[in-house]
Amino acid sequence: MTVKPYIAIDGPAGAGKSTVARMLAKRLGYIYIDTGAMYRAVTLMALREGVDLKSEDSLNQLAQAVSIELFPDYNGGPKVYLNGDDVSDDIRSPQVSQNVSQVATVPGVRKHLVRLQRAMASRGGVVMEGRDIGTVVLPQAPIKIFLTASNKERARRRRGELAAKGNIITQEQMEKEIMARDLIDSTRKVDPLTRAADAVLIDSTTYTIDEVVGMIVSCIKKREGQS
Ligand code: DC
Repeated sequence: MTVKPYIAIDGPAGAGKSTVARMLAKRLGYIYIDTGAMYRAVTLMALREGVDLKSEDSLNQLAQAVSIELFPDYNGGPKVYLNGDDVSDDIRSPQVSQNVSQVATVPGVRKHLVRLQRAMASRGGVVMEGRDIGTVVLPQAPIKIFLTASNKERARRRRGELAAKGNIITQEQMEKEIMARDLIDSTRKVDPLTRAADAVLIDSTTYTIDEVVGMIVSCIKKREGQS
């Protein structure tokens, strides 16, 4: 049996990774995996259980004990189940967003989630998005994209998503929050957000989602032509 390829999409918060990954997966008939949702699920559980977010041991134990299931939904974010409960909306709360980067610095949490992510991707035919997919989770992926956009534009997009759910936040506050998360994500000791040497850089600031998806499809075709 031939393994269908993996497509790895990494980049900072608000660059459009989730929407692009979802649309690309739909177009190719691949499975879409949002790894950020898994870090968010662990964070939600830790907040609900009152776990000290500075205690690496407690977070490790919690990550090993929880059951996280992802079901792709090609019309919105994935359906996420935590110990059998649908937490798809709860993991997007401002409180989870403000704490998730911290939880994602814990080596044991990362090790556990990376193992789950690799198992989910084992059959190939996957578009996986996150921060360390091209560098750590699926370094063998033949197509790697590093998607970014200006800070202003990323904050504008995230604000729009939050406003649609009734959470109003100023542009300035959003930019601050996004930059704080970028800093933690890109300077953490284990598996920091970084562009893989063989990743194609796409700056989506002035492009629509459709245009970005089209660019990635072109990369795939070019690559297929080479092999
Ligand atoms: O993509 P997102 O905003 O839902 O991700 C939430 C957080 O999870 C992000 O701040 C960093 C972390 N994350 C990570 O460290 N590694 C990944 N592969 C995906 C997300």
